[in-house]
Amino acid sequence: HNNRPYVDNIILIGLMGAGKTTIGKLLANSMGKIFIDSDHEIQRRTGVDIPLIFEFEGEAGFRKREVEVLQDVARLSNIVLATGGGAVLREENRELLRKSGTVIYLRVPVNELKRRTRFDKNRPLLQTANPQARLVELFNQRDPLYQQTAHIILDSGRQSVRVLVQTLIKKL
Ligand code: S3P
Repeated sequence: HNNRPYVDNIILIGLMGAGKTTIGKLLANSMGKIFIDSDHEIQRRTGVDIPLIFEFEGEAGFRKREVEVLQDVARLSNIVLATGGGAVLREENRELLRKSGTVIYLRVPVNELKRRTRFDKNRPLLQTANPQARLVELFNQRDPLYQQTAHIILDSGRQSVRVLVQTLIKKL
């Protein structure tokens, strides 16, 4: 997990419920950086929410929009970027993220993710008969991708958000 790029961006990756947005906001605040959430940016540009994009354009349509947004925001500097959980699925995104900032994988045990995403209506990928099983599937599929994309892996299941942010600041 070496070869960190010489840029001042911090990029958070991990599954739904890992805390990318919550931790990202706090981290940006304490480091004097600008916080950007790629899902929010997609919603801002389209004027509709993520579930509606999935409904009308499918996951494939959403992924196209996600690539566009990632390419645009990756050009900025001094940002903390919270990505969507599926950002690492495309090789081109993984490459882009790694060269655009220090990539941090917020690694949370799948049981904790299940707890945090219960009753979640804003995540189309979890709107299935068995969201918990789906989450396990996604974890198994993506955990290796997050690990290979990250410069830093932060085990983030247990500690409070404040402690996690402090730990991160020390590692950066
Ligand atoms: C997705 C995660 C979501 C959002 C979309 C797809 C995924 O972001 O991008 O629903 O593939 O894991 P969060 O990780 O912020 O929930």
